[in-house]
Amino acid sequence: MNQTGTQVQNIILIGFMGCGKSTIGRELKRVLGFALVDTDAEIEARADCKITEIFASLGEVKFRDLEAAVIADLLEKNPSSTVISTGGGAILREENREILRKLGYVVWLRASPETIYQRTKKNHERPILQTDNPRAVIADLLEKRTPLYRECAHLVIDVAGLNRTEIAAGILESAHYYFSQQQS
Ligand code: S3P
Repeated sequence: MNQTGTQVQNIILIGFMGCGKSTIGRELKRVLGFALVDTDAEIEARADCKITEIFASLGEVKFRDLEAAVIADLLEKNPSSTVISTGGGAILREENREILRKLGYVVWLRASPETIYQRTKKNHERPILQTDNPRAVIADLLEKRTPLYRECAHLVIDVAGLNRTEIAAGILESAHYYFSQQQS
């Protein structure tokens, strides 16, 4: 329920970089006809520059402030029938985790460090992974973040070996059950 007592039916995707949040967000939008909000895209629109530039010129803390502001504003806007795809570090701040759970059904898309490495190695738009040893960074961050993803999520999906249709179908079935229980 939101502050006005109405049922909130949003799906929020969390998870590490490279786990397919944006792809699955688009698939859910297509299947459900929901609106789609991508917090990274929203940050870039507000800052009027790419995430790589925000990290380079303003630093990670400023990026996290922008990310927290986008997430806080989402609660303010009180969306419904919306899929919200978040950046991999959106769960780092406690207030973000609380808001994401208030916004709706939170789904953690999970993969192993090696799968994440293989899926991210050719992409240069993730400043955190532009290091000499991305494998080590992925393993370290994943270890630190795993309890936070777990704390925030209503549902966990291991994405390896599943295609977008299968992942979306799993989410829909579980979300449908969750929302029906909320109503009763
Ligand atoms: C980040 C993940 C990125 C983006 C930024 C920081 C992170 O989003 O928000 O580069 O800290 O994990 P994706 O998970 O969509 O790549």
